[in-house]
Amino acid sequence: MPIREILTHPDQRLRRTAAAVPRVDDDVRALLDDLVDTLRDIGGAGLAAMQIGDMRAAVIVDVGRRTHPEGKSTLLEMVNPVIVERAGHVLWREGCLSVPGVSAEVERSARLVVEYLDRDGQIVRHSAEGLEAVAIQHELDHLDGVLYFDRLGALEQKLTLQDYDRACAERTGRAGETESAP
Ligand code: NI
Repeated sequence: MPIREILTHPDQRLRRTAAAVPRVDDDVRALLDDLVDTLRDIGGAGLAAMQIGDMRAAVIVDVGRRTHPEGKSTLLEMVNPVIVERAGHVLWREGCLSVPGVSAEVERSARLVVEYLDRDGQIVRHSAEGLEAVAIQHELDHLDGVLYFDRLGALEQKLTLQDYDRACAERTGRAGETESAP
């Protein structure tokens, strides 16, 4: 399965709302495979289909490499996910593959229950806490066209986006240097 290009802010496709998947078929399973291959290639806690330019409501979350000492996968492949229960609050430093080079602390629910269809089209009810709960909330936000910095206070959002612009300019500068090198 191909590794796909990840869209980055301010690409307006990241601001659209995902479309519910009417049926989990081979085409949807191929999308999930692409998400898994792309996430494993780039490294990260989760990825939404929106981020590879596919507007279907599908996300994956895999926090295993960060939460298990042996780095065991805890892959969740979620189609049409909905958070049905939330409890508590937690402040967590988040980054996003679509907003590379910066991070900020975001307030999230500490625990949750999410319902979704798995790759066989079966309804799954999954309880999560800690990093996994945060990652699920972050990825589900993508399906609503929401990026984590939207949830920051005005000043912190401004500083985060200034850092992001600077990081983008540095990347572009470095790319330019590489291109002009002999
Ligand atoms: Ni993200």
